[in-house]
Amino acid sequence: MQLIIDTEHNLALWAADRYERLLAEVPEAVLGLATGSSPLRVYDELAARVAAGTMSFASARAFTLDEYVGLPAGHPGSYRRVIDEDFARRVDFADGAVQGPDGTASDLSEAAAEYERRIVSAGGIDLQILGIGTNGHIAFNEPGSSVHSRTRVEVLSEQTRTDNARFFGGDIDAVPTRCLTQGIGTILEAREIILLAIGANKASAVAAMVEGAPSERVPATALRSHPRVTVLADAAAAAALTPEARASARSADAVRA
Ligand code: F6R
Repeated sequence: MQLIIDTEHNLALWAADRYERLLAEVPEAVLGLATGSSPLRVYDELAARVAAGTMSFASARAFTLDEYVGLPAGHPGSYRRVIDEDFARRVDFADGAVQGPDGTASDLSEAAAEYERRIVSAGGIDLQILGIGTNGHIAFNEPGSSVHSRTRVEVLSEQTRTDNARFFGGDIDAVPTRCLTQGIGTILEAREIILLAIGANKASAVAAMVEGAPSERVPATALRSHPRVTVLADAAAAAALTPEARASARSADAVRA
């Protein structure tokens, strides 16, 4: 697990460079997209580079991590709508190139299995971007999720619904109780993973992920078994790491191509 600690701005530049190199080498790369606050500066930087004509997503495809169950298409809180607004429609993906799990399906188990099949038939994910929950979740794999879990229905924890109420006008009761999420086993099959952690409320989850004993109680610790993970943390999110871990980290400048 490579650890880079820097400002949110510099971390976004580092991540955008990584996308730029990947798409230059493999224009039809398959990307894994996270919704939420953590990747927003990366998405801004990627949109700016596409607008400047220095990179293109025209041949790429993408799969989102998760979706709430029961929100109608177009609901402002639905992750499909959020990823379109935050990223997909700001770059030059071809129509239909970005897919997400169908949280409105009448048969959710079948929708989950179908989503796994779609990822496999696309050849798997080349580069997955992740955030981390304050409780250590990745995608919506809440504490207790198996490292072997696949895309499935998951019940959202009270903590996650509280954290995400900000996307529903501050009303926790408006946050759905269930979601469809890629499993940890699904995520671990991505060939490369970048996890972004921004802000003091992520500090204890980051410390547990990087230095704690691997445990299903902290789903993000599963990433320690993956051969190609880069954790990008700002100083606030890195604050609970031991001095040794912080000393082993690099700055984004030091590793930018
Ligand atoms: C989003 C997702 C979640 C978020 C996590 C952090 O698709 O799967 O795991 O990455 O909840 O959310 P933010 O970035 O909003 O703090």
